[in-house]
Amino acid sequence: MLYLVTSLFFGVAFVAGQECNFGDLETFVGFDPEKYLGTWYEHYRSPNPEEESYVGCEFDQYFKSDIGISVLSVAYSKPAVRSFEVSSGIIANYTDNTFFLQYFNDPTWSSEYTVLGTDYTTYSIVGGCLGNSDPLVWIASHEKEMTDEGKESVVAILEKMNLNIDDLETVDQSFC
Ligand SMILES: *[C@@H]1O[C@H](CO)[C@@H](O)[C@H](O)[C@H]1NC(C)=O
Repeated sequence: MLYLVTSLFFGVAFVAGQECNFGDLETFVGFDPEKYLGTWYEHYRSPNPEEESYVGCEFDQYFKSDIGISVLSVAYSKPAVRSFEVSSGIIANYTDNTFFLQYFNDPTWSSEYTVLGTDYTTYSIVGGCLGNSDPLVWIASHEKEMTDEGKESVVAILEKMNLNIDDLETVDQSFC
């Protein structure tokens, strides 16, 4: 019986883990990387082991460069190193609702991300799996503090995904 339960569990996990899939929730279309340029401060994220030591001041800057649309990702890390970690890369390619970030020296974060919603200013909800099967979400805006308007839009989109913003981790940008 235990064997049966175990194999059933792994069977389900295997199917679900085949790809990073947001299913019917991929309702956002028309992603335009040119409109996405600028600084995105992270406000909320799914708790995940990769960011456990990143306590705040975490942002991504997208800008035009000779090689296309570049990205500079910055995060303050503590207590591991107590310093700002910086990764640079490019948007290698994109579709109507995804973009692939290729960092030059950072395999963990080089991955495809799904745009779950954005108005290009007050909020952005990006999902990704970092090569695993569990979908994670990151919520950001152009301001260090999210506006009520931005938060309302995010809450409504997360609701459709059966996610509650209160279950996400907050990111302190005040010392940024
Ligand atoms: C996008 O770029 C990444 C990184 O270079 C690559 O692995 C992937 O195959 C590309 N996807 C498409 C659809 O071109």
